[in-house]
Amino acid sequence: MALLEIRSIIRMFGGLCALNGVDFSVEEGEIHGLIGPNGAGKTTLLNILSGMAPPSSGQVQFAGRDIHALPAYQVASLGVARTFQNIRLFPAMTCLENVIAGQHLTASRPLLPRLLQLPSAWRLDHEYEKDARSTLARVGLENRARVRAQSLSYGERRRLEIARALAARPRLLLLDEPVAGMRQGEVTQVAELIRILAGEGMTILLIEHNMSFVMTLCSRITVLNFGQVIATGTPDTVSRHPHVIEAYLGVDKSS
Ligand SMILES: Nc1ncnc2c1ncn2[C@@H]1O[C@H](COP(=O)(O)OP(=O)(O)OP(=O)(O)O)[C@@H](O)[C@H]1O
Ligand SMILES: [Mg+2]
Repeated sequence: MALLEIRSIIRMFGGLCALNGVDFSVEEGEIHGLIGPNGAGKTTLLNILSGMAPPSSGQVQFAGRDIHALPAYQVASLGVARTFQNIRLFPAMTCLENVIAGQHLTASRPLLPRLLQLPSAWRLDHEYEKDARSTLARVGLENRARVRAQSLSYGERRRLEIARALAARPRLLLLDEPVAGMRQGEVTQVAELIRILAGEGMTILLIEHNMSFVMTLCSRITVLNFGQVIATGTPDTVSRHPHVIEAYLGVDKSS
């Protein structure tokens, strides 16, 4: 069975059907792309997968367990982490603090030793800080640890979001436009990081409009258009699919 099974997902917003019977699966360890024109329903689907919004109907199974009715914090504690299309960091906190905040799902911080100021609490903090620093290094922000998130460039903020998601040590990482607004050098760095993460066994589902990034990185791609899956397959198959070409380029049906 696939790590993530998405079955017959429908999501209505009033009279608007943002997702209209979406079915596809993501295998463990793969880098799976989710593409489609603006408004196709990609972010809406990621919101459902991460427990931030329930589907109107349909099921999502993660590691054999139904998660579509679970709240976000429970989905996250099962090993699903995400980044946001509209970056959501703590702007006044440092990079290090943002990453430490992302550790909370896996890190245990017992209150009593902290209240009593025992050395064990200090040692634990030291361990978590070390871990957060190495996560920052993975996204190339090791020299920005003490810099506030609000002072970072746009590309750096996107990388910090990835670091914060990684801090939870997820089994499935959901990325919503991870390289939007980045310089080419940064795009290459993020692509390399994603490859390494997948090599370590992490499963990645990513939304991106940067086609060369998606096509070179993903082993499989699902294409959404108007809330429906119009193609799933290898980059090669999907890029030649007539419905995909039509969705992206538009076809004059009168001709
Ligand atoms: N909270 C909401 N309330 C009403 N309509 C919404 C809401 N969220 C999304 N929509 C609508 O659902 C449709 C899908 O939006 P969604 O943000 O999922 O698209 P997307 O594929 O992520 O697009 P983009 O590539 O521009 O990010 C759009 O028509 C959008 O206007
Ligand atoms: Mg979106």
